[in-house]
Amino acid sequence: MVNPLFEPIKINKLEIKNRLMRSATWDGSADESGGITEESIRIYRELGQGDIGLIVTGYAFVSHPLGQANPGQYGIYSDPLIPGWKRLVKTVHEAGTSKIAMQIVHAGINSPYLVQNGYTLLAVSKKPELNRPHREMTEEEIRGIIKDFAEAAVRVREAGFDAVQIHGAHGYLLSQFVSPIFNQRTDRWGGSPENRRRFHLEVIRTIREAVGNDYPVLIKFGAEDNQEGGMPFSEGLETCRQMVKAGIDGIEISAGVGTGSAAISEGDLKNGVIDKVVFREKAAAVKKAVGVPVAVVNGIRSLQMAQEIIAGNDADMVSLCRPFIREPHLISRWLKGDTGPATCISCNRCFPILRRREPLACGEERRLERKGKDN
Ligand SMILES: Cc1cc2nc3c(=O)[nH]c(=O)nc-3n(C[C@H](O)[C@H](O)[C@H](O)COP(=O)(O)O)c2cc1C
Ligand code: SF4
Repeated sequence: MVNPLFEPIKINKLEIKNRLMRSATWDGSADESGGITEESIRIYRELGQGDIGLIVTGYAFVSHPLGQANPGQYGIYSDPLIPGWKRLVKTVHEAGTSKIAMQIVHAGINSPYLVQNGYTLLAVSKKPELNRPHREMTEEEIRGIIKDFAEAAVRVREAGFDAVQIHGAHGYLLSQFVSPIFNQRTDRWGGSPENRRRFHLEVIRTIREAVGNDYPVLIKFGAEDNQEGGMPFSEGLETCRQMVKAGIDGIEISAGVGTGSAAISEGDLKNGVIDKVVFREKAAAVKKAVGVPVAVVNGIRSLQMAQEIIAGNDADMVSLCRPFIREPHLISRWLKGDTGPATCISCNRCFPILRRREPLACGEERRLERKGKDN
C-alpha cells in the first residue's frame, strides 16, 4: 500500500522525495565570520545520509554586524562566504538524496548576543520597557535590509541550494514587523495589518525578482503571536494569502514570540503523551486558504502522527527539529522498519550546550551517559 508520507512532493519546480523536513536548527558551529567549519560539514553529512526529504539549515544572518542573533550562527551577508556553503551543499547532495534549503534571517531587536558585544540594536519601534540599547529603524535602513535579504537569496542560489527559506517566526525581525507588540510605527510600515505585513511582502517580492520565477522561495511563518496584545491568527492567515500572491512557494507553520513562546514547546512524556502537535489546526487552516504546500512543525515525534497529519490532509509536509539532534538518521530507521517514536523527549537540555558555545548535541543523552558512569 502507498504510504503518503513517503510520496514525493513538488515545490515550485523542486521535486522532494518524501514529506519529511528537518526544520532550521542553529547549531553554533559557524566561525566568527559566520562561515562554515569542519563541524558544520560533519553535522550536514550526517543529516544528508538520513533520508530526510528537505533539510533546512540553521538560520543565517543577511546583514552584518546588525542582523546576527547568536554566537556560532551562520552568515550569508557577503560573497566570500559562498565557497564554504558550496562545499556544504555538495556534501549533502553526495551523501544521499535529500534536498537542502538555507534559512535566512535578520534578528532586529532579538539579539542579546550583539548587546553583549556593545552594539545598539535596530528595532522596528522604540520599546522603552526593553532593557537593551536599541533605536528605531529609518525608512532607508528598512530598504537596506530588504536589499540585504534579496542579495542573500541570490548567494543562496549561487551556492547551489535547492531552495531558500525566509525566517518569519519566533520574534526575529519579520515577526517584529507583523506584531503589534513590537511594531508601533505610525508610518507606512506600522499601524494597520496591511502596513505591518508590508515588510514581508516587500522582502518576498524583492527576493522573487532577484532569483527568478523558477527558484523555490519558502517561509517559516509565525502565524500568531500567542501573547496578549499580539498578532491574532486571523491576521496571520490573511498574511499567508498575501504572501502567496507576492510569490512565496511554500509555508512552514510555527507560532509564538518572546518569553514563554510556544515555538519550542516542552514535551509531556511523563503523562504518556508522545506527540504534542500544537500548530496542527493552524497549519490545516492555512492549507485550506492557500494553494501552495504547507508544512507543520513542533512536537511531531512518532511515525504514526507524521502519517496521520499527511493522510488527513492537515499539511503537505511534517517538519522536525529536536528529534534530528538526537537521531540524525531517524527517518532511515523508520524506513528500515524500526518504527518506534523519536527518542527525543523535548526537554530542551540541548540549549545549555549551545549557550556554553559548544557544538550542538543532545543534553539528555549526555545526562544519561553521566548517570550510567556514576552507577
Ligand atoms: C537548538 C535549536 C535551534 C533552533 N534553531 C532554529 C533556527 O535556526 N531557525 C528556526 O526557524 N527555528 C529554530 N529552532 C526551532 C525549531 O526549528 C522548531 O521550530 C522547534 O524546535 C519545534 O520543533 P520540534 O518540536 O520538532 O523541535 C531551533 C530549535 C532548537 C531546539
Ligand atoms: S536534549 Fe536531546 S532529548 Fe532533550 S530536546 Fe534536545 S535533542 Fe531532544
